Amino acid sequence: RVLRGRPRDLSGRKIVVSAGGTREAIDPVRFIGNRSSGLQGYALARTAVARGAEVTLVAANVTLPDPAGASVVRVESTAELRDAVLAASDDADVVVMAAAVADFRPVTRHDEKIKKSDGEPESIQLTKNPDILAELGQRRVQARLADPAVAGEPAGTPVPAGAAAHPERGTADEAGGAAGPVSAPRPAGRSGPGGAQGSAGAGASAGEPPPAGIRGPRPEVIVGFAAETHDVLANGQAKLVRKGCDLLVVNQVGEGKAFGTADNAATVLVAGGEPVEVPLGPKEDLADAVWDLVAARLA
Ligand code: CTP
Ligand code: CA
Repeated sequence: RVLRGRPRDLSGRKIVVSAGGTREAIDPVRFIGNRSSGLQGYALARTAVARGAEVTLVAANVTLPDPAGASVVRVESTAELRDAVLAASDDADVVVMAAAVADFRPVTRHDEKIKKSDGEPESIQLTKNPDILAELGQRRVQARLADPAVAGEPAGTPVPAGAAAHPERGTADEAGGAAGPVSAPRPAGRSGPGGAQGSAGAGASAGEPPPAGIRGPRPEVIVGFAAETHDVLANGQAKLVRKGCDLLVVNQVGEGKAFGTADNAATVLVAGGEPVEVPLGPKEDLADAVWDLVAARLA
């Protein structure tokens, strides 16, 4: 497919796209993984480059060739994906989580291969992985609340009720000049009680301020993906709010759709707006539909 003829409406924008599926090791040869070819994430990366963006593609276990013009970081586990996405997101305008993230990982990883000759397998105890998309949303809410004077909240980007800020946040009075390093992106010249935050740690990376000199809380636009098997729109809407994202691309799976195929159909749920239907077509068309909505929110 020729990628010419696209608007350069993402030029100068820093965009992070995650793609593929994470894997959690059971032993040196086995893993728990998520089904994802990476095709949709790669299509997003390619089309964003074609529309002028500076793209970091965080690829989890994808066998596709690197898209020209994107900088590619390869990861395997959810912990690695999280580190790479959060690091690249600090000064990003847009983050798109197209990766299928393993929700659980084994509590222990065997150093040696588990052998059949050892008898019946023991059960594998699992623990929950961090939710990277929710973390991105929470970081942005905290950045907004930390300094509303400079937050410059764009119209139509409400803080969703479900994307709760840190629950142990202190009051303005308690803060009294004690804004710690986790909550004070611009301590100088501040007027008013912005930056109020209790001393409770928000988790190392979740509370980090955006780098100085950057306009407003980052990223400006957060996009999630969700594959649902039933109650697609209701589940998607709840997920959009819960994770605090601006756009959520939902598709129904289980009918030969989405996984490993070149085509995709989806509904894009929009925070504070009407859903947008994208008919069955090449994954690049869905990618362009997403960038159209992203560009409109950036403008
Ligand atoms: N996601 C994430 N970190 C996780 C799980 C999911 O960042 N640990 C992101 C995915 O990349 C995707 C979005 O969240 O953009 C929705 O993923 P999904 O698996 O549908 O959401 P979950 O919250 O895991 O809900 P479910 O129980 O339906 O799997
Ligand atoms: Ca999940």
